[in-house]
Amino acid sequence: MFPEIDRILIDGPRIAARVRELGAAIAADLQASCAQTRSDEIVLVPVLTGAVVFVADLIRHMPLKLRLGVVAVSSYPGRSMQSKGAAIRSEIPPDLAGKHVLVVDDILDSGRTLGLVTRLIQEQRPASLRIAVLLRKQLAGGDGARAEAVPVDYIGFDIPDEFVVGYGLDFDGYYRNYPQIAVLRPPAAPGRLTHA
Ligand code: IMP
Ligand code: MG
Repeated sequence: MFPEIDRILIDGPRIAARVRELGAAIAADLQASCAQTRSDEIVLVPVLTGAVVFVADLIRHMPLKLRLGVVAVSSYPGRSMQSKGAAIRSEIPPDLAGKHVLVVDDILDSGRTLGLVTRLIQEQRPASLRIAVLLRKQLAGGDGARAEAVPVDYIGFDIPDEFVVGYGLDFDGYYRNYPQIAVLRPPAAPGRLTHA
């Protein structure tokens, strides 16, 4: 069924436990922000397509009144395993002014995707803007090695600089439905444009 999977990096129960913790922590912080400001409007902005599985689980551990406003981003890879840039493929939700916004993505790699999305959201002057990622790749040069420095507030797991799939993350559009975070068997076939 999943012939190219080499090994599991983070198994399903570990992901589930961490997502539960993150949901509780994020909900508490958002509630505190609402109490400190005049706004009690919360909008989660999942970055399609990679964040779909993560956000679906995360929101069920957030007992809050909230809305979802998705944004679609494509990464332009030389191969599917190397992100070389990001482009918005849909409108950024247009009504974020004065609201508490949480951007949710699958992984922080070069930082270009989240850099772009958060710059555009910031222009709308939200009451607060936070970022949650399931995974953060540890690059050889540390955080300074990212193409864009992105201040991420919530991180599920730090992982080595390997290409991973599963739990929403794809290779060439496949493996998003694999329920654990896994590393593919090298060498993988060259890929086409995929939706981040
Ligand atoms: P960025 O390089 O931080 O802009 O990440 C861009 C997008 O590339 C992420 O949102 C993911 O969808 C995708 N991506 C980066 N690293 C991986 C990986 O290891 N596996 C699958 N997708 C990845
Ligand atoms: Mg992707």
